[in-house]
Amino acid sequence: MAIVPNPYKTTGFLGWIDDRFPLTKLWKDHLSEYYAPKNFNFWYYFGSLALLVLVNQLITGIVLTMHYKPGAETAFDSVEYIMRDVPWGNIIRYMHSTGASAFFIVVFMHMYRGLLYGSYKKPRELIWVFGALIFLVLMAEAFCGYVLPWGNMSYWGAQVIISLFGTIPVIGPDVVIWVQGDYSPADATLNRLFSLHVIALPFVLVGLVVAHLIALHEVGSNNPDGVEIKKHKDKATGIPLDGIPFHPYYTVKDIVGVTVFLMIFAGIIFWAPDGGGYFLEKPNFTPASAINTPEHITPAWYFGSFYAILRATPPLFGSALPGVIAMFGAVLVIFFVPWLDRSPVKSIRYKGPLFKIALTLFTIAFIALSYYGMQPPSPLGKLVSQIGSVVYFLFFFLMPVYTKMDSYKTEPERVTHDAH
Ligand code: HEM
Repeated sequence: MAIVPNPYKTTGFLGWIDDRFPLTKLWKDHLSEYYAPKNFNFWYYFGSLALLVLVNQLITGIVLTMHYKPGAETAFDSVEYIMRDVPWGNIIRYMHSTGASAFFIVVFMHMYRGLLYGSYKKPRELIWVFGALIFLVLMAEAFCGYVLPWGNMSYWGAQVIISLFGTIPVIGPDVVIWVQGDYSPADATLNRLFSLHVIALPFVLVGLVVAHLIALHEVGSNNPDGVEIKKHKDKATGIPLDGIPFHPYYTVKDIVGVTVFLMIFAGIIFWAPDGGGYFLEKPNFTPASAINTPEHITPAWYFGSFYAILRATPPLFGSALPGVIAMFGAVLVIFFVPWLDRSPVKSIRYKGPLFKIALTLFTIAFIALSYYGMQPPSPLGKLVSQIGSVVYFLFFFLMPVYTKMDSYKTEPERVTHDAH
């Protein structure tokens, strides 16, 4: 049967492929004819950087898995073997362990850009919701990965986090044993976290990233002005007047971001791979021990804010359940931002003082929480964490009020942009 020629009139090998698979269509729809606003700035580097760190984690993770041996008796030694005997093993391991911190830095910046420019607002709610799901899964992925070296902080970190299930009324203690597969973190725990870390969660993560990008390309990118570029199209071609093809313009621009990022990333990996104890914590250089508790059990820095909220919430009838609810609530509330922001404009450039003050207070609270979450308990830390937690939640809960009351400037019709 004759094949209907593909609409792109490609010939030769590419034509053969295009008759059978939409290769040229995909290239055009998502790159060479995907029109992105021409005013992207610094904050727009972090989406492509998030993709880069994701690929870095996947590739270095695959290589580590070739040498790592899950199991309470073998895990720690196999990581030491990777560090000392596997050719380039130490670099691969640092690319992965420091890569985890890089992932969170990049994703926090990426989410912050969303807050700055209202990128979650209609019609981009689903891009945000997929993003928030990515964040949730990323946290689970990082937690599982942290346990794998079976260092002492891995062990006690697992103990603290899994014991949170114990706060569930009635069934809690049984859930802990079920999740752990034992009465304390043990071989069975390590094996199931390994399975989640290398198979289940990366699978979900990649699927969510694909959904995130499909949603983005369905509605088109927002920009620092928060102006919809699809409102003004060239009458003859239908191309947005303020849009430029993603390829080559933004592929080239993103290479600049990638280059700078890789220089910083390589610098850290070569000269300060443990980030002064923040990227790899000191107790994790000693093997897991059930009888030797680290002096201070602290989470990785990127969980600091959520851990501080957990610790700052007072227990109820001796149960830490309120803290657990507050900690998970702090992540869940992120999902609702598209419906909490009632401002008629998207970008902070045109929003009024109330939003700017709220975002500033939230930023300070988040940094303070992250800091005190990593510190040993202290009266000052507790006070700051309690104030920070209140500010954190008020930023979200009061958002419908202050964004509605706030003044705003009228958005321009077209994007503002100084060509350089
Ligand atoms: C693995 C993690 C992630 C990857 C690989 C990723 C990737 C991307 C990419 C490549 C873009 C387009 C480029 C850009 O606008 O910067 C984008 C846009 C976007 N992302 Fe993500 N993302 C991730 C996580 C998140 C998270 C956690 C959120 C928020 C909760 C989020 C919210 C958004 C939003 C709202 C946009 C649209 C931005 C706009 O049009 O202004 N993303 N993402």
